[in-house]
Formats: sequence, C-alpha cells, structure tokens
Amino acid sequence: MIRSILVGVLCGISAITASPVLRKRDFPDPEPCTGNCSWIHDPNIYKDSNTYYRFSTSGNIAIATAPSLTGPWEYKGALLDNGTKIIVDPHGQDIWAPNIAKIGDMFYAYYSVSTMGSQASQIGVATSSKLDPGTWIDHGSFGLPHSQNYNLIDPAIFQDSDNGPLFLTFGSYWNGIYQTPLETTDLISYSSGGGASLTNIVRNTTVGMDVVEGAIMFKWQTKYYVFFSAGNCCAAPPNLPAPGREYRVMVCRADQVTGPFKDKDGKDCLESGGTLVLGSHGDVYAPGGQGVMVDEGKPVMYYHYVKPSVGYAADQFFFGFNYLDFSSGWPVVV
Ligand SMILES: *[C@@H]1O[C@H](CO)[C@@H](O)[C@H](O)[C@H]1NC(C)=O
Ligand SMILES: *[C@@H]1O[C@H](CO)[C@@H](O)[C@H](O)[C@H]1NC(C)=O
Ligand SMILES: *[C@@H]1O[C@H](CO)[C@@H](O)[C@H](O)[C@H]1NC(C)=O
Repeated sequence: MIRSILVGVLCGISAITASPVLRKRDFPDPEPCTGNCSWIHDPNIYKDSNTYYRFSTSGNIAIATAPSLTGPWEYKGALLDNGTKIIVDPHGQDIWAPNIAKIGDMFYAYYSVSTMGSQASQIGVATSSKLDPGTWIDHGSFGLPHSQNYNLIDPAIFQDSDNGPLFLTFGSYWNGIYQTPLETTDLISYSSGGGASLTNIVRNTTVGMDVVEGAIMFKWQTKYYVFFSAGNCCAAPPNLPAPGREYRVMVCRADQVTGPFKDKDGKDCLESGGTLVLGSHGDVYAPGGQGVMVDEGKPVMYYHYVKPSVGYAADQFFFGFNYLDFSSGWPVVV
C-alpha cells in the first residue's frame, strides 16, 4: 500500500518536471476503435472480402470480426475450442501470438504454446477452409527443432509474392529472430532440412540486452522489412523498466527476403541494429505485438498497448492501429 502510494507520488513529480524534455519524439494517437478493443495481445488480422478477422493471444486464440479496422469489433469465439494438442506445461501454459495465412485454398493458423520465461515452447498449426470459430482443425506441433539459441514462439508466415516462396520467422528472447524457408508440402509438419536452414536475422548483442521477439515480415515496393517488438512487454508499477526499455516496435530492412537486415543508420540487425517505429507516448505505453497489412491500398500497422490512465493488467491491453508512410523508404507512423 505504502509503496504504491509513494510510487504514485514519484511518478507524478517526474511526469510534470520531465515530460517536455523527455518527449523527444511524438507519435500520433491510435486510430479510433469501437466494440471489443481490450484484452488484446499480439493481434493478427486477416481481411476476407469485406470482413476483418482479428486473432489474438489467450482464450485459446480469441477471434473477433468487424466491418472495418475501426470496428465495431465483435468477439466470435475461440480458434481452438478444445485447446491445443501441444502440452508444454499442463498447469500454466497459454496459447500465444497467432498468425494466419492463406496458402492455396487453405487457411493456416500458426501459434505458440509457452509459459512466461520458459524455453520449452512449441509452435503449433491449425487449418481451416474458413476463418470462423468451429471450423479449425488442430494439427499440434509444427515440429521445429528445439535449440538453446531460440525460443519457439511468435511464428509468422511470409509469402514473397502470390505463389512465391514461403518463409516462417519466429522467436524469441535468447538470440532473437530466426527465419526458415518453407515448402508448400511442409505447411503442417516441418521437414525442410533441420537446423541448417534456420537463419538468425535479428539479434541484440548488447550486454543486458532488451529482448527481441514478435517479428513479422512485410514487403513494400522492392524492400523487405522485418518489424519486431523489443523490450519489456508486460510490466506493471512499481516494476516498470527504465523509460525507453519497455515494449516498442522496431524495424530493419533488406534488399532480399533473407537479409542481411540493416537499420536506418546502416547498422547490422544481427549486431543490435533496429530503428524505432513506435514507442510510448501520451497515454500509450509499451506498444508491440504488431502486425502490418495493406488496407484499401494503404499500409497499416496494428498492435497492442497499455493505457497508463486505465491500468497495466492483462485485460487492460488495447488494440490500436495507425497508417504507415513509406515515402522515405522507412515506415513512419502517421
Ligand atoms: C472481448 O474479447 C475477448 C477476447 O479477445 C473476450 O475474452 C471477451 O469476452 C470479449 N468481450 C465481450 C464483451 O464479448
Ligand atoms: C471439442 O470437444 C467436444 C467434446 O469432446 C467435441 O464434441 C467437439 O467436437 C470438439 N470440437 C472440436 C472443434 O474439435
Ligand atoms: C538492444 O539492447 C540495448 C540495451 O538494452 C538497447 O538500448 C537497444 O535499444 C536494443 N536494440 C534494439 C534494436 O532493440
């Protein structure tokens, strides 16, 4: 009690004295959201004709739909009604960070099963010919090999062009983000060559580094971008990290889908490089778990964030999105 009152007072003082100085960079507020916009972690959106499907962490992968990105979002049910076949911890596991792709006529939902701080994670896959709850078939583990170098979380599939080569990124805490090519024959059960084809593409090598996870690939014009989340995703007062070390969205860019990825200053993203796309600002704290899509011809980044004025609990994470301007060659939130 006493501690939380003290922290409240201290935060109040530092906010008043420090905000004009610390506010190096302003970001626009998230676009409006109506309907079910909270308890959202790691959103992933798939637009199927005129309906937006939003998938998110927990609740056996929550599915909501809306007629536009602004909503109204309506909760529809769970992707995995009966949970997953994967058991990494019978008592504490959760299903995280779904990622949905349509390959041929089939939808694939990649997901991770883990517990906080554990490396015994697994990436699983489910399929459906539709996107709705009740239509998905769980295939359990995708079969990526375990390694001390990475954590099997945060899968994201990327297709270079229609019918072009497929890649899966994942990870990670530990050594950051990995990428592997996939064959269309491999989409339910990984078999393409074991460890040799798993490539580290983003890594923070700084001592006491911020974790790097939640990567997704995106192509805009001729360049390949990897967006990822860095820092502390889920702290609450009085245990907040130093300002700037909370969750934030970073980006690296390459001329080829497999890299090498560099940041805006030319720094190698295997050597701690990364350019900030969206950080905390105003009443937006620790944005991350992002995805990027093209909507009505415009690139959009969506993400989850915390509103300090509301709270920091799991059910107080909000869904947000902003348009991106790539005219400089680098994504700028507008
Ligand atoms: C909103 O969606 C979440 C899952 O994302 C679900 O747990 C919750 O029940 C939904 N709320 C309502 C009012 O439907
Ligand atoms: C979930 O389990 C129930 C009871 O075993 C079963 O009736 C139902 O078909 C299952 N749902 C799916 C999607 O497998
Ligand atoms: C790497 O970690 C350092 C130390 O925590 C941090 O200052 C830097 O922003 C991180 N870089 C990236 C790309 O996240």
